[in-house]
Amino acid sequence: MGKIIAIANQKGGVGKTTSAVNLGAGLASKGKKVLLIDLDPQASLTLCMGYREPDKLEHCVTDVISRIVNDEAITDGFGIIHIHDNLDLLPSSIDLSATEVSLVNAMSREMILKTYLEGVRNKYDYILIDCMPSLGILTVNALACANSVLIPVQAAYLPVKGLQQLIKTIGKRFHS
Ligand SMILES: Nc1ncnc2c1ncn2[C@@H]1O[C@H](COP(=O)(O)OP(=O)(O)OP(=O)(O)O)[C@@H](O)[C@H]1O
Ligand SMILES: [Mg+2]
Repeated sequence: MGKIIAIANQKGGVGKTTSAVNLGAGLASKGKKVLLIDLDPQASLTLCMGYREPDKLEHCVTDVISRIVNDEAITDGFGIIHIHDNLDLLPSSIDLSATEVSLVNAMSREMILKTYLEGVRNKYDYILIDCMPSLGILTVNALACANSVLIPVQAAYLPVKGLQQLIKTIGKRFHS
């Protein structure tokens, strides 16, 4: 059963995507099966994996979420692209920003990613989720299915204030 790590911080530009790319590549080179999930409409992780036009991909995480919300059947591993020996990617694209809005009224909206990962996590040793710089519903989805959270942060006063907010949000997940 794969260990799920959410890489999150609502502050932008702190190294979330860089951590996801390098940790993923490092683990894969050590022989671990790794799935990278891009949960950011900026699609930086997808770009880093060599997909220069994320909008042109056949499927991405947006399709996964909308199919689960609409109760449509999906096969295990739907949307996942094989990148390299031990490394797979569930890509993102700008469409994901509209998904965040559409989830406001969805049933069990915090658990969509968890539902999807139930069908795929046994194929991986590690699943790394690159979150967007916000504490919106998509980031909450990542926190709700993660075994642990990796928080890149700058060692300065204001970033630490932001970190307290994130820790509070994580605490809500564990107490609900
Ligand atoms: N450890 C590091 N030391 C110095 N620079 C770094 C480090 N990690 C990342 N960077 C640089 O910081 C910038 C932002 O990194 P990155 O895109 O990974 O942040 P992010 O948190 O994913 O951003 P966003 O919130 O927009 O998704 C990039 O230019 C990256 O090369
Ligand atoms: Mg990023």
